[in-house]
Amino acid sequence: MAHRANARGRSPVHRTRRSRSSPGRAVIWLAAITALGGLLFGYDTGVVSGALLFLKNDFPHISALQKELVTSFLLAGAAVGAIGAGRVSDRIGRQRTILVTAALFLAGVLSAAFSPSFLVLLAAQVVIGLGVGSASMVVPMYIGEAAPPQFRGALVSFNQLALSTGILVSYLVDYALSGTGNWRLMFGLACLPAAALFLGMLFQPESPAWLIAHGRLADAQRVLRRLRPPDAVEGELAGMLRSTQRQDARARELLRPSLRPALLLGLLLAVFQQITGINTVIYYAPTLLNNAGLGSSAALLANVANGIVNVGMTIVAIRLLDRVGRRALLITGTCGMATALLTIALIFLASGPHLSTPAALAAVAALVVYIGSFAIGLGPVFWLLISEIYPVRVRASAMSAAAAANWGANFLVTISFLTLLNAITNAGTFFMFAFLTAVALIYFWRRVPETTGLQLDDISADTARRRPTAALVPAQASAGREPRHAAGR
Ligand code: BGC
Repeated sequence: MAHRANARGRSPVHRTRRSRSSPGRAVIWLAAITALGGLLFGYDTGVVSGALLFLKNDFPHISALQKELVTSFLLAGAAVGAIGAGRVSDRIGRQRTILVTAALFLAGVLSAAFSPSFLVLLAAQVVIGLGVGSASMVVPMYIGEAAPPQFRGALVSFNQLALSTGILVSYLVDYALSGTGNWRLMFGLACLPAAALFLGMLFQPESPAWLIAHGRLADAQRVLRRLRPPDAVEGELAGMLRSTQRQDARARELLRPSLRPALLLGLLLAVFQQITGINTVIYYAPTLLNNAGLGSSAALLANVANGIVNVGMTIVAIRLLDRVGRRALLITGTCGMATALLTIALIFLASGPHLSTPAALAAVAALVVYIGSFAIGLGPVFWLLISEIYPVRVRASAMSAAAAANWGANFLVTISFLTLLNAITNAGTFFMFAFLTAVALIYFWRRVPETTGLQLDDISADTARRRPTAALVPAQASAGREPRHAAGR
């Protein structure tokens, strides 16, 4: 029996009937290999903070500004990489774009590790950034296009799991190498997953959705036979074909009125993911705790705890995304983030900038709740939703735009955070993040559709036709079936 959600999708999401209890080994393997791109995204963004401390070993006159450049060149490169990867992946295919991305990572990290001068290091950061930005959009897109609908949430979020693991590994590597100060090795170790990504991708197929969009029906059928149980191939193929016929959109048509709501949704999710403060915590938690009176090793330990919670809660999200749905996790997680940020603000308001031991412990606990809430909601759900809500012909361009907005917002928040702390105090800064998170919560509640269990082409057909606020009722797992839409608003 089909159940109805109300117009905003608030009713519980019903489980899609599963044609199989597992997505199959070929798809799991594909998602795991591709997610190495996410691991590199996390590692390369995380490793810089530790490496910065030791650059003076080789560049004794390095200034604070030059250190900032090392970080910001990576983020700027990532914004450019995200934009470029959209076009490239439409032209040469998703799988080959990931190969190029892996090559960029390899070139970048090896140049950073062997850089003979500061300028070469900066150039290497830009190249690594291009890889990071490209991976950030093409990895979720490729997995999303290859995954069976009823497992898509979990499989796309392998990317977020790998990403948070990459951040955690980078903390541990920074910590382990801090004794020798070997920043070159900190950067250089990333060549291992980069090489594994390159080699692994050589054996992965092209995305079936991309093949169909390029008129290569027989190739798409061959790939689907490899990735799906035999009885699901024809129906899914038919669904994809229908969707390419009815969605003759091109990149420049992204601004077409019917696509505008979905474009706006992706851009706002991207910006909210950053302006709610996640990377101020990821990049600066030890500095913040240290300044607040916690010893440096306690601050580093608290950071490792944050990293572990980030990974652990992403695993919980992977288990829940296809069962309870994207909206429920997004909204619960964002509530948790807002509450934790408000708590941190109140702790600083009550104690001033220097915390007593109990206050510092309470702040650490609130930080952990904040990170855990991000990891169960906005972290994975943003990257997942932008891989789901666009029609295939504009998917790459729209995801590029959302990923670039995410990197741009990340850059702005990261460079302004320390200045903000000085200008409006710790309490003021966290009140501001709590407020922005409350605004995000209201927006998500009103605008984010439920996409759990639906075929990609059905979600995108719907977003192309109507406002994305309308709730969708999950289709049956059987391919090719038309989705049922909830009553209009
Ligand atoms: C965000 C990153 C963040 C990471 C933390 C990702 O979803 O896009 O900016 O550093 O989550 O795990």
